[in-house]
Amino acid sequence: MKALSLIGAAKFTSPNPVSLVCSKTPSGDTNLATVSWWTYLSLNPEIIGFAMMKTSYTGEQVRETKKVVLTIPGEALARQVMQCGSSTGRTRNKAKEFSIALKDLPGCDIQIPEHSAVAIECSLREFIDVGDHYLYICHVKNVYADDGETPLFAWNGYSEIAPAKR
Ligand SMILES: Cc1cc2nc3c(=O)[nH]c(=O)nc-3n(C[C@H](O)[C@H](O)[C@H](O)COP(=O)(O)O)c2cc1C
Repeated sequence: MKALSLIGAAKFTSPNPVSLVCSKTPSGDTNLATVSWWTYLSLNPEIIGFAMMKTSYTGEQVRETKKVVLTIPGEALARQVMQCGSSTGRTRNKAKEFSIALKDLPGCDIQIPEHSAVAIECSLREFIDVGDHYLYICHVKNVYADDGETPLFAWNGYSEIAPAKR
Protein backbone atom coordinates (compact mmCIF):
# COMPACT_ATOMS: atom_id res chain seq x y z
CA MET A 1 0.00 0.00 0.00
CA LYS A 2 1.17 3.56 -0.62
CA ALA A 3 0.96 6.46 1.86
CA LEU A 4 -1.53 9.25 1.03
CA SER A 5 -2.93 12.44 2.48
CA LEU A 6 -6.45 12.00 3.86
CA ILE A 7 -7.99 13.88 0.93
CA GLY A 8 -6.10 11.56 -1.43
CA ALA A 9 -8.16 8.64 -0.06
CA ALA A 10 -11.37 10.21 -1.44
CA LYS A 11 -10.57 8.96 -4.94
CA PHE A 12 -10.45 5.42 -3.60
CA THR A 13 -13.69 5.71 -1.65
CA SER A 14 -15.64 7.05 -4.68
CA PRO A 15 -18.47 7.26 -5.22
CA ASN A 16 -18.74 9.52 -2.16
CA PRO A 17 -22.01 10.99 -0.86
CA VAL A 18 -23.01 14.43 -1.99
CA SER A 19 -25.68 16.79 -0.67
CA LEU A 20 -26.96 20.31 -1.23
CA VAL A 21 -27.23 21.93 2.18
CA CYS A 22 -30.03 24.51 2.25
CA SER A 23 -29.88 27.37 4.73
CA LYS A 24 -31.85 30.57 5.14
CA THR A 25 -30.20 33.93 4.52
CA PRO A 26 -31.19 37.17 6.32
CA SER A 27 -33.21 38.21 3.22
CA GLY A 28 -35.25 34.99 3.47
CA ASP A 29 -33.67 33.36 0.41
CA THR A 30 -32.27 29.85 0.38
CA ASN A 31 -28.51 29.47 0.08
CA LEU A 32 -27.29 26.18 -1.40
CA ALA A 33 -23.88 24.63 -0.69
CA THR A 34 -22.47 21.34 -1.89
CA VAL A 35 -21.37 19.10 0.98
CA SER A 36 -19.94 15.61 0.69
CA TRP A 37 -18.93 15.25 4.31
CA TRP A 38 -22.27 14.36 5.85
CA THR A 39 -23.20 11.25 7.79
CA TYR A 40 -25.91 9.51 9.79
CA LEU A 41 -24.88 9.68 13.48
CA SER A 42 -27.75 8.23 15.57
CA LEU A 43 -31.16 6.63 15.02
CA ASN A 44 -32.55 7.16 18.53
CA PRO A 45 -32.62 10.10 18.71
CA GLU A 46 -32.35 10.71 14.97
CA ILE A 47 -29.16 12.74 14.42
CA ILE A 48 -27.06 13.58 11.38
CA GLY A 49 -23.85 15.55 11.06
CA PHE A 50 -22.02 17.47 8.35
CA ALA A 51 -18.65 19.18 8.26
CA MET A 52 -18.09 22.58 6.65
CA MET A 53 -15.12 24.88 6.33
CA LYS A 54 -15.14 27.47 9.10
CA THR A 55 -15.33 30.23 6.48
CA SER A 56 -18.46 28.92 4.72
CA TYR A 57 -21.48 31.21 4.51
CA THR A 58 -23.74 28.21 5.09
CA GLY A 59 -22.09 27.51 8.43
CA GLU A 60 -22.49 31.13 9.47
CA GLN A 61 -26.24 31.06 8.67
CA VAL A 62 -26.82 27.67 10.33
CA ARG A 63 -25.08 28.86 13.49
CA GLU A 64 -27.33 31.95 13.42
CA THR A 65 -30.74 30.43 12.55
CA LYS A 66 -30.15 26.93 14.06
CA LYS A 67 -32.06 25.51 11.09
CA VAL A 68 -30.95 23.62 8.00
CA VAL A 69 -32.29 21.21 5.37
CA LEU A 70 -29.86 18.69 3.94
CA THR A 71 -30.98 17.48 0.50
CA ILE A 72 -29.70 14.75 -1.78
CA PRO A 73 -29.80 16.11 -5.33
CA GLY A 74 -31.42 14.17 -8.16
CA GLU A 75 -29.83 13.60 -11.55
CA ALA A 76 -31.21 16.81 -13.11
CA LEU A 77 -29.05 18.88 -10.72
CA ALA A 78 -25.61 17.45 -11.60
CA ARG A 79 -24.26 20.65 -13.16
CA GLN A 80 -25.65 22.86 -10.41
CA VAL A 81 -24.07 20.67 -7.69
CA MET A 82 -20.64 21.63 -9.03
CA GLN A 83 -21.66 25.28 -9.37
CA CYS A 84 -22.98 25.44 -5.79
CA GLY A 85 -19.72 23.85 -4.63
CA SER A 86 -17.48 26.44 -6.25
CA SER A 87 -19.13 29.73 -5.28
CA THR A 88 -20.28 31.29 -2.04
CA GLY A 89 -23.72 32.56 -1.13
CA ARG A 90 -22.05 35.37 0.78
CA THR A 91 -21.91 37.43 -2.44
CA ARG A 92 -24.49 35.84 -4.77
CA ASN A 93 -27.86 34.14 -4.95
CA LYS A 94 -26.86 30.71 -6.25
CA ALA A 95 -30.40 29.41 -6.79
CA LYS A 96 -31.20 32.35 -9.09
CA GLU A 97 -27.85 32.47 -10.87
CA PHE A 98 -27.73 28.76 -11.58
CA SER A 99 -31.46 28.51 -12.47
CA ILE A 100 -32.32 26.15 -9.63
CA ALA A 101 -36.09 26.09 -9.12
CA LEU A 102 -37.05 25.86 -5.45
CA LYS A 103 -40.06 24.38 -3.71
CA ASP A 104 -41.59 24.40 -0.24
CA LEU A 105 -41.54 21.68 2.40
CA PRO A 106 -44.59 21.50 4.71
CA GLY A 107 -44.21 23.84 7.70
CA CYS A 108 -40.59 24.68 6.87
CA ASP A 109 -39.34 28.18 6.06
CA ILE A 110 -36.31 27.00 4.07
CA GLN A 111 -37.04 26.15 0.43
CA ILE A 112 -35.26 23.24 -1.25
CA PRO A 113 -34.39 22.49 -4.89
CA GLU A 114 -36.96 20.80 -7.09
CA HIS A 115 -35.51 17.43 -8.17
CA SER A 116 -34.29 16.59 -4.66
CA ALA A 117 -34.28 12.82 -4.05
CA VAL A 118 -34.20 13.19 -0.24
CA ALA A 119 -34.70 16.10 2.16
CA ILE A 120 -33.71 15.95 5.84
CA GLU A 121 -35.08 18.88 7.81
CA CYS A 122 -32.98 19.56 10.89
CA SER A 123 -32.39 21.82 13.84
CA LEU A 124 -28.84 22.50 15.01
CA ARG A 125 -27.94 20.76 18.29
CA GLU A 126 -24.33 21.89 18.50
CA PHE A 127 -21.26 22.53 16.42
CA ILE A 128 -17.79 21.30 17.23
CA ASP A 129 -14.44 22.73 16.22
CA VAL A 130 -12.65 19.92 14.38
CA GLY A 131 -9.74 21.85 12.82
CA ASP A 132 -10.33 23.73 9.58
CA HIS A 133 -14.00 22.60 9.62
CA TYR A 134 -16.86 22.78 12.10
CA LEU A 135 -18.88 19.60 12.57
CA TYR A 136 -22.58 20.52 12.70
CA ILE A 137 -24.55 17.98 14.74
CA CYS A 138 -28.25 18.23 13.96
CA HIS A 139 -31.53 16.85 15.29
CA VAL A 140 -33.65 15.41 12.47
CA LYS A 141 -37.18 16.85 12.44
CA ASN A 142 -38.61 15.41 9.22
CA VAL A 143 -37.38 13.24 6.37
CA TYR A 144 -38.87 13.19 2.86
CA ALA A 145 -37.96 11.18 -0.25
CA ASP A 146 -38.99 11.07 -3.91
CA ASP A 147 -38.38 7.65 -5.45
CA GLY A 148 -38.82 9.15 -8.92
CA GLU A 149 -35.46 10.94 -8.55
CA THR A 150 -32.07 9.24 -9.04
CA PRO A 151 -29.64 10.38 -6.31
CA LEU A 152 -26.27 11.83 -7.27
CA PHE A 153 -22.83 10.95 -5.87
CA ALA A 154 -19.35 12.47 -6.16
CA TRP A 155 -16.95 10.44 -8.30
CA ASN A 156 -13.18 10.50 -8.79
CA GLY A 157 -12.73 12.19 -5.42
CA TYR A 158 -15.03 15.17 -5.72
CA SER A 159 -14.43 16.10 -9.35
CA GLU A 160 -17.41 14.48 -11.11
CA ILE A 161 -21.06 14.29 -10.18
CA ALA A 162 -23.13 11.34 -11.43
CA PRO A 163 -25.54 8.67 -10.21
CA ALA A 164 -24.12 5.54 -8.55
CA LYS A 165 -25.20 3.35 -11.49
CA ARG A 166 -23.49 4.54 -14.68
C1 LIG B 1 -18.37 17.76 -4.81
C2 LIG B 1 -18.10 18.81 -3.73
C3 LIG B 1 -18.17 18.46 -2.40
C4 LIG B 1 -17.94 19.41 -1.38
N1 LIG B 1 -17.99 19.02 -0.06
C5 LIG B 1 -17.75 19.93 0.91
C6 LIG B 1 -17.82 19.56 2.28
O1 LIG B 1 -18.12 18.41 2.63
N2 LIG B 1 -17.56 20.52 3.22
C7 LIG B 1 -17.23 21.81 2.88
O2 LIG B 1 -16.97 22.65 3.76
N3 LIG B 1 -17.17 22.18 1.57
C8 LIG B 1 -17.44 21.28 0.60
N4 LIG B 1 -17.40 21.67 -0.72
C9 LIG B 1 -17.08 23.09 -1.03
C10 LIG B 1 -18.25 24.04 -0.71
O3 LIG B 1 -19.43 23.66 -1.38
C11 LIG B 1 -17.83 25.47 -1.12
O4 LIG B 1 -16.82 25.92 -0.24
C12 LIG B 1 -18.96 26.47 -1.19
O5 LIG B 1 -18.45 27.65 -1.79
C13 LIG B 1 -19.57 26.83 0.15
O6 LIG B 1 -20.65 27.71 -0.10
P1 LIG B 1 -21.19 28.78 0.96
O7 LIG B 1 -20.07 29.72 1.30
O8 LIG B 1 -22.34 29.43 0.22
O9 LIG B 1 -21.62 28.00 2.17
C14 LIG B 1 -17.64 20.75 -1.73
C15 LIG B 1 -17.60 21.10 -3.10
C16 LIG B 1 -17.83 20.16 -4.09
C17 LIG B 1 -17.79 20.56 -5.54
